[in-house]
Amino acid sequence: MEKVKDVVFRVLRYSPETGSPRWAEYKVPVVKGMTVLEGLFYIKENHDPTLVFRASCRMGVCGSCAMKVNGKHILACQTQILKLNSDVLNVEPLNNYRVIRDLVPDLTPLFQKHATVKPYIIRYSDPEEFNDPTGEYLQSPKELEEFLQFTYCIKCGACLSACPVVSGNEDFLGPQALTQAYRYAVDTRDEGYIVDREVVSDIVSGVFRCHFVGACSEACPKGVDPGMALQLLKKEIFLYTFGLKREKKKAGFHRIDFNAPPPPDAPKPPPRTVEG
Ligand code: SF4
Ligand code: FES
Repeated sequence: MEKVKDVVFRVLRYSPETGSPRWAEYKVPVVKGMTVLEGLFYIKENHDPTLVFRASCRMGVCGSCAMKVNGKHILACQTQILKLNSDVLNVEPLNNYRVIRDLVPDLTPLFQKHATVKPYIIRYSDPEEFNDPTGEYLQSPKELEEFLQFTYCIKCGACLSACPVVSGNEDFLGPQALTQAYRYAVDTRDEGYIVDREVVSDIVSGVFRCHFVGACSEACPKGVDPGMALQLLKKEIFLYTFGLKREKKKAGFHRIDFNAPPPPDAPKPPPRTVEG
């Protein structure tokens, strides 16, 4: 494909051996549709094989390639260079994380905080159903809509990088984990509630530390809007604390006989393409 123009990548590089970060410049011949990630691969293959960055799916679903370009949080694999409208790209790792090397942040705190809020469905009435499922829980489309948007989080970590509270208080659970706490708190299949995720209202690390700056929502490449989730979570805690919360609606349950033969009008499975 024909080159459209040269773009200079100014990459903030860091190696733990030398200690101090430094800017390094590389010229990248950009073709139509080329992504920032492809630009980084071009540098690695043509200028400096020691450049380190992280990527996996290359289609905006794994969250590995989140970074900052010209001050904005992006997924490198889904951001086209020409759409950034700049001849110079300042490429930096995410803020608020320890940098392992070059553009690779250590996301351990993100995943630890995520685990802290118990980001899964809690059941008290039928815990055995988890180990040995006998059917499915029922939920209306309207009930699903209550939290659907928040399930799109790919755990890229950009929201924590953008959050000014996280930068001053590393104990703050942050937008990603608290969004997931809200997502489960309003899921009708979940029988736990705020009390089961008591960390969310902790005075030091909980949701009331959020000042509603909204930088997390601006940074999120998946349109999750964690800023809104945190305000809704505050409201849930307030109503719960003052006894104003109506009892949580419970999802229905539909038992399935997994051994029953399929109904005669069930679609046939596709033919096997590999023998055996
Ligand atoms: S809420 Fe958005 S920015 Fe934060 S981790 Fe999830 S996808 Fe990334
Ligand atoms: S490589 Fe997976 S989101 Fe970019």
